[in-house]
Amino acid sequence: MCGIVGYIGDSTARSILMDGLNKLEYRGYDSAGIALYNQGQVEVYKQVGKLENLEQVITDEKPQGTVGVGHTRWATHGRPSVPNSHPHTGCDDDFVVVHNGIIENYLQLKEELQEGEHLFTSETDTEVIVHLIEEEYRGNLESAVRRVVAKLEGSYAFVAMAVQEPQKLVAVRQDSPLIIGLKDQEYFVASDIPAVLKHTKDVYILDDEEMAVVTQNGVELSTVEGETVDKEVFTVDWDPGMAEKSGYEHFMLKEIHEQPEALRRAISGRLSNDNSQVIFDELNLSPAEIEKYEKIYIVACGTAYHSGIVAKYLLEDLVEIPVEVDIASEFRYRDPLLDENTLAIVVSQSGETADTLAALREAKSKGAQVLAIGNVVGSTIPREADQVVYIHAGPEIAVASTKAYINMLMVFYLLSIYFAQLKGTISATRTEELIQALKNLPNQVAQLIKDSEDTIAKLADSYVDQNSAFFIGRGVDYAIALEGALKLKEISYIYAEAYAAGELKHGTLALIEEDVPVIAIATQESIMDKMFSNIQEVQAREAHVTGVVLAGNEEVTRSLDRVIEIPSTEEILTSILTVVPLQLLAYYVALKRGCDIDQPRNLAKSVTVE
Ligand code: F6R
Repeated sequence: MCGIVGYIGDSTARSILMDGLNKLEYRGYDSAGIALYNQGQVEVYKQVGKLENLEQVITDEKPQGTVGVGHTRWATHGRPSVPNSHPHTGCDDDFVVVHNGIIENYLQLKEELQEGEHLFTSETDTEVIVHLIEEEYRGNLESAVRRVVAKLEGSYAFVAMAVQEPQKLVAVRQDSPLIIGLKDQEYFVASDIPAVLKHTKDVYILDDEEMAVVTQNGVELSTVEGETVDKEVFTVDWDPGMAEKSGYEHFMLKEIHEQPEALRRAISGRLSNDNSQVIFDELNLSPAEIEKYEKIYIVACGTAYHSGIVAKYLLEDLVEIPVEVDIASEFRYRDPLLDENTLAIVVSQSGETADTLAALREAKSKGAQVLAIGNVVGSTIPREADQVVYIHAGPEIAVASTKAYINMLMVFYLLSIYFAQLKGTISATRTEELIQALKNLPNQVAQLIKDSEDTIAKLADSYVDQNSAFFIGRGVDYAIALEGALKLKEISYIYAEAYAAGELKHGTLALIEEDVPVIAIATQESIMDKMFSNIQEVQAREAHVTGVVLAGNEEVTRSLDRVIEIPSTEEILTSILTVVPLQLLAYYVALKRGCDIDQPRNLAKSVTVE
């Protein structure tokens, strides 16, 4: 939700800020703006819509300056418009603010400021911050910001500049991410690591209630109360190239193709030398603790939530502990029953999703142990959890999650085997069989992409003009149907719904008529007969059925209109393979419909508001 950048150094800030915004555009793309300090004044440029609109009003000469801030917006308070775009200035343009988050008490603050003759030009909550700074400024920006922060309620990360102190940026964090990139006498402020990766891998990750005063002489860290903070520099292990498109037309396609490599990273270091054991060095869990857990809750949003549904099947099967999977935005509002005998697993690619973070805090407050599965090292959710397992997918830029999802699945596979080993619910032979199958998955995914991409690109033609599509499956295949439907709807805007195949006849079958596209996922041998009957039910209503099936299943294949085959693996491990053709299908349908694939309408990659 909204991307913030800031720069101070001796290079031209314009191109650095624009490049940073480009890397953060996945966080929001309703409008964008930059503000640079130049010769005693601040120049502000803003445009509605994507960054490319802002690029059109910026030239090689303008704006000038080596200090500035930038912002890419996902609208919350106030529609996308130039006045509502950031950076915001106060009454006399002496102060500038860019902000991510929500100021919950802004209406009250705004009324007070308006009574004091402050003139507001936008409908945003952000604008109160800059007017408050104006009100509180007595020659020192950080002191003014401290007094302002004491009045704010809500979640925020913001960066402020003052014309009277041109060589200074003041950045504050409360519940919204913020990092400071460090290079020789050049400093960067950003909402996320990809924005600074091109310049440096060394960063400070701000914690809540912390402030950074950034000048060309260095960075001073303190709490908002003014106590000095001594923080270690965190060195990112991502490669700058990971945040580039590398010749692909879209990040989503690049990230689909990166999946074999991402899977290898997720497995790497987590198997014993003789492949007989799964190892999680980063975890501190004893057999007694696993034995103690009476229940596991998996809590997440969207695609991460879908990975949890697959995990329920795995954990219940292998570890024999009941698992509940919850949508994070619902979880804490229904007083969930957890205690010290519960393990709560929260899953989040960004590590910043507000609802998942709130669920984590709820689970902790009830005494549950919280294990986070995350991708972005140093993000809030992993830092607040009791224990962390990283999926090592690398930076995911496309809004539609692909490689993070597949790596979440891989980590759940590994964790399920690991827990089962600790609890003694899996035999040595079965462990070795599953590990062998897991090790094959990266190559199988690579081969599957190679073998099926062209066919799926052609198959996409028959979906381009459809208004709706149905995804059906049983067991783990149902979980993948949910993910396949989400991928299709979020990037192609085709109404897509997923159903447990046996549930269709309880209502939804009424929607199935001639040529309605149905995607049947049928990889679970143990319930294939039932699935086959469900396929026939929709075929009897003349639906057009594409099946995602295991290679060699002649009986099912014969009955389908179109077939996408996946290589064979252990029945409980099919999900990593099954989802790949569905990701590709969503991609090619969206491409042929001319949709904005990496930045679908109304969405943003990191949802840091509730
Ligand atoms: C869909 C998608 C979202 C995210 C969800 C949770 O493709 O990416 O549904 O999965 O917003 O995000 P994280 O995992 O960052 O908590």
